[in-house]
Amino acid sequence: MNIPLVNLKAQYLTMASEIDAAIRRVVESTIFVLGPETRSFEEEFASYCEVEHAVCVSNGTDALRLSLIALGVETGSEVITVPDTFYATGEAIASVGATPVFVDVDPATKTMDPAALEDAITAKTRVLLPVHLYGHPADMNPILEIAHRHDLPVLEDAAQAHGARYRGKRVGGLGKMAIFSFYPSKNLGAYGEAGCVTTNDAELAQQVRLLRDCGRSSKYLHVQRGFNHRMDEIQAAILRDKLPHLDQWNRYRRRHVALYQRLLADLPEIQLLRTSNDCESVHHVMVIELDNRDQIHGKLEALGIGTGIHYALPLHLQPAFRYLGYSEGEFPVTEASCRRVLSLPLYPELTKQQIAFVTGQLRTLLTA
Ligand SMILES: Cc1ncc(COP(=O)(O)O)c(C=O)c1O
Repeated sequence: MNIPLVNLKAQYLTMASEIDAAIRRVVESTIFVLGPETRSFEEEFASYCEVEHAVCVSNGTDALRLSLIALGVETGSEVITVPDTFYATGEAIASVGATPVFVDVDPATKTMDPAALEDAITAKTRVLLPVHLYGHPADMNPILEIAHRHDLPVLEDAAQAHGARYRGKRVGGLGKMAIFSFYPSKNLGAYGEAGCVTTNDAELAQQVRLLRDCGRSSKYLHVQRGFNHRMDEIQAAILRDKLPHLDQWNRYRRRHVALYQRLLADLPEIQLLRTSNDCESVHHVMVIELDNRDQIHGKLEALGIGTGIHYALPLHLQPAFRYLGYSEGEFPVTEASCRRVLSLPLYPELTKQQIAFVTGQLRTLLTA
């Protein structure tokens, strides 16, 4: 049985006529960029995230860049984040001339360890950037409390966490600003590049609107320097059609993870990630931890079972960040994760039989 890590075709087939109609709607309108679909999606997504403003941009990385610029981050600034994340989190910080400063993650949830945060704050710190990794919200209350004490804004990287809740509140409105990615494989995925910034601050939202569209306040007036980081209408139309399904898809993900956990619970070789009692995770990926990860990874792939490693090399050890001067051993929790994590197939349309097959094969490999 071939089971991919994600299966975007399966999702398309459940709503092919809606998607095709959305694309046709835009093509027939001939409004392809920043039009009515984007405006409507911004309203609908803001309402979904329980925030005042959503501003769509070209992708999640650009959403981070524009948020950092709107928050006043510039050359010489420091932004504190985690090394256990997708590369884009650090890249966005460096791309605006600032220095990424890393703090380790909590071993249970793999999100920013608030106990490590305060020591990393310096006079140059401008923003705290926790990541809701794997769809699990970071422990926001202690992070916000530290931010408040140091008068620093918190920017949530919610690229993997559409719909997740922390103490009952949706991510996206927990800090000063938040970003989402709509990369195709995300819980809410476009059919190309797309992303979004959310905030309850009208001025920051307006600033991102200017920055994404050449600093333009009207057609021929550019009031400040900006970029072309606009989102296109086909993506907005598709995202509008997908958004009403998101909660159901997230429920399926939760159910699949619960089944995986039940079927793997008695295997001492495998550690399962815990969901904090304060959180409703949206399980972007199904991660297990094991010692002989690379061997099992190769064997599952050979059996036709798609797997992933999120992530194989922490940000502080990436060649691109060598200039920051970090060395191995500085973030032991993240480094151990990177050696041990393995992602198993997970998408809403996955069946119980497929999960039973994956866990059965894993059991055979581990007990052989
Ligand atoms: C945690 C995290 N941050 C940022 C991004 C960047 O998003 P995008 O790929 O849309 O630029 C991603 C996407 O993979 C991500 O997983």
